[in-house]
Amino acid sequence: MTERRFKQSRLDERPTLTDFDWRFNPKLPRQACFELHTLKFIGEGANALILGKPGTGKSHVAKAVAFQATLLGHDVRYVEADTEFARFALGSPQEQSAALRAYIEPDLLVLDDLFLARRISDASAELLQTIVHQRYKRRASIVVTSNRIVSDWGKYLGDATMGTTILDRLMHRAVMLEFEGKSYRLKEAAARIALTATEA
Ligand SMILES: Nc1ncnc2c1ncn2[C@@H]1O[C@H](COP(=O)(O)OP(=O)(O)OP(=O)(O)O)[C@@H](O)[C@H]1O
Ligand SMILES: [Mg+2]
Repeated sequence: MTERRFKQSRLDERPTLTDFDWRFNPKLPRQACFELHTLKFIGEGANALILGKPGTGKSHVAKAVAFQATLLGHDVRYVEADTEFARFALGSPQEQSAALRAYIEPDLLVLDDLFLARRISDASAELLQTIVHQRYKRRASIVVTSNRIVSDWGKYLGDATMGTTILDRLMHRAVMLEFEGKSYRLKEAAARIALTATEA
């Protein structure tokens, strides 16, 4: 049962909050991450916006929360936002309506790395708007991660009004988690370089 739910979620890994090094970036909102991990927000139909610097663990935390939700019996859908939205545009009408249902019906939707590519296409912006509006009506939670500041979203959507109506609904019942700090990816890269240097 749990395994089926994990597969349906399309998560590609099973990260947890305990395998996260909370000392690396001491300013991260640790408490709020664990609060999210209790999944109370799903029952409340609240959203979570995890925003901040690249490589600080936003996707890790979002996936950990999503994974926990699959374990506790929720239907979850994890989406790498930019890639998935671009793929959606290429689908047939039947494929698109099936995909849309899969974004709208689960208890929890994770839109990971939104606006990674900055400007998204008009079709992607409309898709995002549909998803947010429909889930808002159903009081169904969304977790968004992005390294773009919210005030720039209108710009990336190519339409300020659309940015406002999307944000309005996302933020109405939402927690905001800000991830300040240095990139863990750079730390890992530096460690690899150091290793190569000692091997040479
Ligand atoms: N404090 C940490 N402890 C352990 N692993 C970490 C930590 N922070 C990040 N990582 C790991 O570093 C990699 C990058 O983190 P992640 O993808 O979550 O960053 P992000 O904030 O989503 O970045 P981006 O804005 O570029 O999407 C992942 O493999 C993640 O598991
Ligand atoms: Mg990320």
